[in-house]
Amino acid sequence: MHKLVQDIINMKKEGKKISVITSYDYTLASLCDKAGIDVLLVGDSAGMVMLGYENTIPVTMEQMCMFTEAVSRARHNSLLVADLPFMSYQVSIEDAIRNAGKLIKAGADAVKLEGGSVMAETISAIVDIGIPVMGHIGLQPQTTMLSQGYKVQGKTKDTAMRLIQDAKELEEAGVFSIALEMVSHEVAEIISDTINIPTIGIGSGVGCNGQVLVVQDLLGMYDKIKPKFAKRYMNLSEDIVKSLENYRNDVQAGVFPSEENWFSMEKKEFDKLREEIGS
Ligand code: KIV
Repeated sequence: MHKLVQDIINMKKEGKKISVITSYDYTLASLCDKAGIDVLLVGDSAGMVMLGYENTIPVTMEQMCMFTEAVSRARHNSLLVADLPFMSYQVSIEDAIRNAGKLIKAGADAVKLEGGSVMAETISAIVDIGIPVMGHIGLQPQTTMLSQGYKVQGKTKDTAMRLIQDAKELEEAGVFSIALEMVSHEVAEIISDTINIPTIGIGSGVGCNGQVLVVQDLLGMYDKIKPKFAKRYMNLSEDIVKSLENYRNDVQAGVFPSEENWFSMEKKEFDKLREEIGS
């Protein structure tokens, strides 16, 4: 049986840190699940790292459902959370519930949406029908990008107070955890100590109850943006390009494929064939 929302909540109570990684496709999701990552997040960052958009704004429900279905076929152990994309939950509560339901039908165990207290009513409505929700405050790529660009959040007393209040209201609305994106580490720690549910940080310091990274950043596969918080555990893109160059060279030199890579006819069948075609 894979992890449940309650298992993730319990991890905070037991003082265990929570590992979260984004996943969008079957092959990498299988490896993340095998590695024992607690939560696979089908983030709308898929728009950038999988589809090549400049930001997450163009991502659609159809795309998120497709990624979620692929990841759900791969996971056996982790909890699976999927992002509601831009404008799939902001227009009406009915829309939000319908779209949250689509992600659950696609295989997610819970959904994530961006926004502080302004989203509390929507979150309550989704939670009330039985769909677990992860909140997301601090830098909210779907909208912060429109006004401020990538900026650390909670650097002044007033913005810090706003974030703390948002976190409390999201907890009251029923979220089971909150992602804190690019929040100053002092504020992230205060929020983590103030609320009972787990915080999952990205660029928000070690005081959070868990951490999330975009899998392509961790593996060193996405070079377009290199945020300081995205620790690279390897430089996979270098190895991939090297391997592809080796393949291209082998093809050009006629050394690939070789006998171990091809299939043969029975000799007697081949002889009959040669006789038939007169060669
Ligand atoms: O879309 C995403 O990948 C996210 C995480 C970075 C938190 O929302």
